[in-house]
Amino acid sequence: MPELAILGGTPIRTEPYPAWPIYDEHDIAAVTDVIKSGRWGGYPYPGPQTAEFARRFAELQGGGHAVPMANGTVTMEVALRAANVGWGDEVIVPAYTFQATAAAPMAAGAIPVIVDIDPETYCVDPQALEAAITPKTKAIIPVHLGAQMADMDAVMEIAERHDLIVVEDSAHAHGARWRGQGAGTMGHFGSFSLQSSKILTTGEGGVLLCRTPELAARAVSVIDCGRPHAEAPPHHEIESPDAPGQAFTMGANYRLTELQAALGIVAIERFPEQARDREEMAAYLEESLSEVPGVRLLKRDPRHTGRSFYRYAFAIRPEVFGAEHDVVCAALQAEGVPCWVGYEAMHHYMLFQPGLSRLPAPSAFPERFDFGGVHLPEAERACEREAVWLDECVFRAGRQGIDDAVAAIAKIQSRATELARMEQESRQK
Ligand SMILES: Cc1ncc(COP(=O)(O)O)c(C=O)c1O
Repeated sequence: MPELAILGGTPIRTEPYPAWPIYDEHDIAAVTDVIKSGRWGGYPYPGPQTAEFARRFAELQGGGHAVPMANGTVTMEVALRAANVGWGDEVIVPAYTFQATAAAPMAAGAIPVIVDIDPETYCVDPQALEAAITPKTKAIIPVHLGAQMADMDAVMEIAERHDLIVVEDSAHAHGARWRGQGAGTMGHFGSFSLQSSKILTTGEGGVLLCRTPELAARAVSVIDCGRPHAEAPPHHEIESPDAPGQAFTMGANYRLTELQAALGIVAIERFPEQARDREEMAAYLEESLSEVPGVRLLKRDPRHTGRSFYRYAFAIRPEVFGAEHDVVCAALQAEGVPCWVGYEAMHHYMLFQPGLSRLPAPSAFPERFDFGGVHLPEAERACEREAVWLDECVFRAGRQGIDDAVAAIAKIQSRATELARMEQESRQK
């Protein structure tokens, strides 16, 4: 039986998986054209590249009014502000996500309320979501995590019954479909990240899909230093001194540059073929991965009609692998397969300590930011023991790339006794 690479054996895969992002002469030509045009920045908003990127992005997702902006965190803050969600309002977020999902409501002055996940999908548990609603709840941010989607039927039904704003955090879900509808087009807003690890990237960047032109106009005002934009109906704004009759609001510069938008247009052109290839490779992976003892695939919900593969998460049974996911991931990395244990549970997240910050909402409502007594068993199980996230590059190395990843996982599982010893040693340190 071959020795584990982490213990000095030969790795299953020695050839690196392909790098991301990829580029060709089209990216170089697109950026060169923008440089030569002299119109580099996002002001006045939108520039020609940004307007074209917005049109194509909404087309890709199949709906909404797209507002490109600086990243996939401010998208959520801007959505909440455009919907007038702010000071002291409660916004429900799942415990399994990147810290941005909870940081964005805080930036808008709201209180993130963290709830548990469905262990079958690792996305928000609709029952936990509904149980957390109070008279102060104004919005929900379901997250489409990894290659999964939140149960949007349940989320939208609950939101409509309680009259709540829904911002779909679709940072991982470019191209994903739920009953044929694009991620980010079912809620009032869909928030996308274009940061460099994402499957559609402009280096940095984000897009907010808005359900109505009015919401989009408000969002544009917020990202364009508060300038009035057509169709923004008055709410908390004042009349513009420069444009009587038009709303002027408090905003900041969160604009996307024309250079980024040009890269985005090329990325969208490539996207459909890449998405098909990843889907084919993921289906191939699942056939063999499901045979490995101790591996639990996440649910394939038939309503989730189009998958997207930022990263691919599955669960291990630590008792069958001999160790928890951190030891398994370290062993898998050593075998040449890029992987990750995933995010920390939001209520335990070391970087998410808002109770210790001097930000306005935690300072004013410290008891709402004290997560010491919060116990969310499913998120804790996923985040602390069982989730393994395969990097997206694993799906871009053909069948051999998938075969190597599965062979490495099977090899590691077959050495459960050694993993148990490694775990014991590392926990004793
Ligand atoms: C689930 C989720 N939401 C939001 C974000 C924030 O995106 P950005 O880094 O573009 O601000 C990320 C980024 O990794 C993410 O993974």
